[in-house]
Amino acid sequence: MKKRIDELKQQKNAVILAHYYAPDKVQEIADYIGDSFYLAKIAKQSTADIIVFCGVSFMGESAKILNPEKKVLMPDITADCPMAHMVQDGKIEEMRKLYDDLAVVCYINSTATLKCQSDVCVTSSNAVKIVKSLKNKNIFFIPDRNLGRFVAEQVPDKNIILNDGCCPIHASLTKAQVLDVKKEHPNALILSHPECEEEVLNLSDFMGSTAEIIDFANKSEAHEFIICTEYGVNYKLLNDNPKKLFFYPRPTPCCKDMKLNNLESVLKVLENEDNEIKIDESMRQKALIPLERMLELGK
Ligand code: 13P
Ligand code: SF4
Repeated sequence: MKKRIDELKQQKNAVILAHYYAPDKVQEIADYIGDSFYLAKIAKQSTADIIVFCGVSFMGESAKILNPEKKVLMPDITADCPMAHMVQDGKIEEMRKLYDDLAVVCYINSTATLKCQSDVCVTSSNAVKIVKSLKNKNIFFIPDRNLGRFVAEQVPDKNIILNDGCCPIHASLTKAQVLDVKKEHPNALILSHPECEEEVLNLSDFMGSTAEIIDFANKSEAHEFIICTEYGVNYKLLNDNPKKLFFYPRPTPCCKDMKLNNLESVLKVLENEDNEIKIDESMRQKALIPLERMLELGK
């Protein structure tokens, strides 16, 4: 299957992008693996005719918004991020009426419809930097209340209004689950994604995006780590650090949508060129503004 994928990639000038949460076998064959910010930048720079995005729909959509002339294909078109939809209809207009200077800051884990109504996008690796750089005092942070709270703590001079959305996988991790693992491995450092609840972040030695967690573990002199994010990062963590030990809260955090990507679906989508992301042009142009602003401010 890998050989056939490779042949089709060459033949069709296609490139495979995979998020760190994609299954190991998919990360193995990908041309680029990374966090959401890195993958958005790669999608923007790519000279390929076809981008196969092994992630969830908001990632494929962002790639298409940035590259209207390219075919962006999803191995499984149903792979979606539930949090991407978690803003109530009418809520953004309501908040804009309340504050004259409101900036709507939209986590990239959001639908194109939400991006269209936003001033700037962020990812977990650039949210603090971008919010700090805004002139606006009042910020409506959508959709993730946990990333929003994490940013608010680091940018106390802004009035950050939170929205009640969250990642079901990260938000289900509890302090008790993490402490159970810590009891078994008292020397392990706790590294967490900011999508986790406050009770988990309060226990953590380091908080950051998937790429930042991997980078921290790579550079750290510690030998053992408790990883509070989706288990897919383990592939890169172990590849980079074969002698270090990585533990996860139980039950192991697993995003079932990310796991819809597999070798069979990658091969099939390369063969058939179906599952293409299509976005209405006027919507694309509106959603492009906050995404480009993120690429600029996040540099
Ligand atoms: P990153 O921004 O770290 O890639 O995270 C994306 C994501 O979906 C986290 O759940
Ligand atoms: Fe969405 Fe959470 Fe899955 Fe990330 S891990 S894609 S935020 S459901």
